[in-house]
Amino acid sequence: MKVLVIIAHPAIEQSTVNKAWMEELKKHDNITVHELYQEYKEEIDVKREQELCEAHDRIVWQFPFYWYSSPSLLKEWQDKVLTYGWAYGANGNALHGKELILAVTTGSGEEKYRAGGLNHYSMSELLKPFQATSNLIGTTFLPSYLFYGTSEATKEEIQKSAKEYAEYILTPLS
Ligand SMILES: Cc1cc2nc3c(=O)[nH]c(=O)nc-3n(C[C@H](O)[C@H](O)[C@H](O)COP(=O)(O)O)c2cc1C
Repeated sequence: MKVLVIIAHPAIEQSTVNKAWMEELKKHDNITVHELYQEYKEEIDVKREQELCEAHDRIVWQFPFYWYSSPSLLKEWQDKVLTYGWAYGANGNALHGKELILAVTTGSGEEKYRAGGLNHYSMSELLKPFQATSNLIGTTFLPSYLFYGTSEATKEEIQKSAKEYAEYILTPLS
C-alpha cells in the first residue's frame, strides 16, 4: 500500500510535533511526504497534485489545528485540486476507493475538546467538514490520528507518537 502524506504546516521549522512526525515518516519507503508550504510559494500545480493522489492508495492530511480547522494552504489545495469531473460530479471518480486519514495536532488538551470544556466541541465534531468532503469525493474516511496538548508534551511522548502514527497509517484496513 502506498501512502501519500500531505503536510500543511506554515512554520514547520518551529514545530515540535509535526516535524518529529515528518522525520519519522521519511524513514518509510511506502510513504511519500509532500510538504505543501515547501512546495508552493505561489500557484498550486493542480495536475501534479492530482497525479500524486492517483499514484497512492491512502492519503493523509497532516496539520496543526489552526482556528478549529487546517492552515489555509490545505483549504486552498482542496479548493483547487478537488475539481469537478475529477474528484466529484460526472465521472469525477479519481479518488473513489482510496482512503483518507487526518493527522492533527492541537494546542489545547483533550479535556478542552468536549461539551462544557473551553472549546465546547469534540474533535470529531469539529472535523466534520473534512469528513463531509471525504464523503463527496468517495474516499473511505478512517479514524483520525490526534495529538492533543502539544505544548505540554515531552520529547518521549512525541517520539512515541511519531512511531505509532507511522505504524497506523501504514497498516492496511483488513
Ligand atoms: C494561527 C494559530 C491558530 C491556532 N488555533 C488553534 C485551535 O483552534 N485549537 C488548538 O487547540 N490549537 C490551536 N493552535 C495551536 C496549534 O494547533 C499548535 O501550536 C500546534 O498543533 C503545535 O504543533 P507543532 O508543534 O507541530 O507546531 C493555533 C496556533 C496558531 C499559530
